Amino acid sequence: MQIQENFSLKPYNTFRIDAKARYFSTFSDVDQLTELITHDSPLTTHVPMAIDSQLTPFILGGGSNILFTKDFDGLVLKNEVKGIEKIREDNEYMYIRAGAGENWHQFVMFCIKNNWAGVENLSLIPGNVGATPMQNIGAYGVEIKEVFHELKACHLHEKVNYTFGLNDCQFGYRDSVFKNKYKDQFVITEVTYRLKKTPEYNTSYGAVSQELEKMGVTDLSIAAISQAVINLRSSKLPDPAMIGNAGSFFKNPSISKTQFEKLKSEFPNIVGYKNDNGTIKLAAGWLIEQCGWKGYRKGDAGCHQKQALVLVNYGNASGKEIYDLSEEIRQSVKEKFEVELEREVNLI
Ligand code: FAD
Ligand code: EPU
Repeated sequence: MQIQENFSLKPYNTFRIDAKARYFSTFSDVDQLTELITHDSPLTTHVPMAIDSQLTPFILGGGSNILFTKDFDGLVLKNEVKGIEKIREDNEYMYIRAGAGENWHQFVMFCIKNNWAGVENLSLIPGNVGATPMQNIGAYGVEIKEVFHELKACHLHEKVNYTFGLNDCQFGYRDSVFKNKYKDQFVITEVTYRLKKTPEYNTSYGAVSQELEKMGVTDLSIAAISQAVINLRSSKLPDPAMIGNAGSFFKNPSISKTQFEKLKSEFPNIVGYKNDNGTIKLAAGWLIEQCGWKGYRKGDAGCHQKQALVLVNYGNASGKEIYDLSEEIRQSVKEKFEVELEREVNLI
């Protein structure tokens, strides 16, 4: 464990933005983390840290939901806490604990191999275990809150470890207490998931059932659902190893039924899905495409050809260029549809 200075973050964010961290270190257990966030430890005597300023350490996972718009003038700590273990089981569930630094998709594959169900619809989502509750990741009809049991997190000021259960996390659509009340206060070090011993398949997302049919699957299994999801994702989402991106740049916005009906009379093809509370969730990708952005490119910043909700870096775009493009897109959607887009990607 060593603190490095003026460290390029380009290999550590999937947008491939060449931002620099003034200081950078990794940690692989809670003791190392505690040493790194203690002002007067021998390791950090030269590192300025202030909990309530931008010098608050920034916790990095796989860097797949971040846009660096400038250099980070503080300490970036990359979470590399590893380990996967079964902690207990009952008649219905397996309780599996994973270190926050474990790769999410590898964890999903591990569960599928063991026939533990619940995460198959979340196959191939980039990033690490630690961010899954932070973001309440979701795809193809499933969110992490459905398999979440508890997590452990270290408080950056108090340097005390806390346990958070399901209700403590206040999960919402791509949202949790760690993005609101406890923003920048906790480092998630491990997550325990509750996986089903007998699978309950979720093929409610139309594209998944269509893909299973296309694959000729007659005997449904979690492995088949995982493969269907992998096929779908690979067909429309850019692979960050080839083209820089952070998945959906914006969230899908929700509007009232009245506003939806008004829009529907003007734009009969508008895509919307009913939420449980009666509001309508619009497909932001459709709104952006209708504004003419799909496939747009300015320099190396662009809007993906197959999925308008994904902004891309074709090579050497700066974070500021991607951000400026996102603001133009937001503005045009607002002007055409009177709908506000909210960012999903975390801006630094
Ligand atoms: P990072 O990008 O490193 O961090 C994200 C935020 O979480 C930051 O604010 C960071 O400070 C914080 N954070 C990370 N780890 C910790 C920790 N241990 N403790 C405290 N804070 C932490 N997301 C979906 O939900 N569904 C999708 O279908 C989906 N598809 C994607 C497809 C592509 C091609 C890409 C590139 C991204 C996609 N995403 C999707 C977004 C992204 O994969 C998820 O948000 C993922 O959970 C981010 O994980 P990460 O480890 O890379 O987090
Ligand atoms: N659409 C268009 N044009 C586009 C893109 C989408 O018209 O360019 C319309 C289509 O009608 C399509 C609908 O939007 O049927 C929905 O598209 P898709 O199935 O691709 O899903 P999405 O709503 O764009 C969301 C998540 C994804 C997640 C998928 C699958 C958000 C912000 N995004 O995308 O998550 O993988 O559903 O469940 O909720 C992410 O969060 O980074 C992410 C990729």
